[in-house]
Amino acid sequence: MTTPKVLIAPSLLAADFSQLANEIRRAEEAGADWLHLDIMDGHFVDNISFGPAVVATVRKLTQLPLDVHFMIEHADHYLPRFLEAGANSITVHVEPEAKHDVPKTLGAIRAAGCGVGLTLNPATPFEAVAPFLTTIDLLLIMTVHPGFGGQAFRPEMMEKVKRAKAWRDANGGQLHIEIDGGINAETARLSIENGANILVAGTSIFRTKDYAAAIRALRGG
Ligand code: DX5
Ligand code: ZN
Repeated sequence: MTTPKVLIAPSLLAADFSQLANEIRRAEEAGADWLHLDIMDGHFVDNISFGPAVVATVRKLTQLPLDVHFMIEHADHYLPRFLEAGANSITVHVEPEAKHDVPKTLGAIRAAGCGVGLTLNPATPFEAVAPFLTTIDLLLIMTVHPGFGGQAFRPEMMEKVKRAKAWRDANGGQLHIEIDGGINAETARLSIENGANILVAGTSIFRTKDYAAAIRALRGG
């Protein structure tokens, strides 16, 4: 059974946008594996972040893979703009409130040669994503209700992580299991123990002084 390498994906949402280039360089030098970009439309979630123009700007500033997390309605409509902007993986929500045809959107991401991700809110049961596991590269398990950084981790989401790991172990070991929300050294350890291998973290990296120390701590010191 393969144990995938743990990857750290700092979430730019918590970065200082007046210093974007500097923040990205510091995250990169500190050992970030991917960058996580949160796209919020004020409809699917109660907040608005940034769009494809910012993703394209980030693309020019780094070679790191750009992990784009859609928290928007009508993902299918906006998808081409984010592909064009240089996303390496795009993760969409499974809830009906996201107002898209989930298998069709996943197929369109795949057809573009981009990494295919699917995610679910804390209130959404694992059964909602189960039918799609063979068609995705990455399952993102939200450990907070999406919309804002700096919220408290919900440990009860580890049940979903365990189920995803059991599925991965039984199906060739390729699925990435990513977690997002309230990830710090302690909750990272718990998540890794349960099977997560990609850790998204905003506050616990960008709101500290030493990004390298923060990333080391997330990996387990
Ligand atoms: C929440 C976003 C997260 C957020 C995480 O809606 O999906 O990616 O940036 O922030 P922290 O790590 O501060 O919980
Ligand atoms: Zn996110």
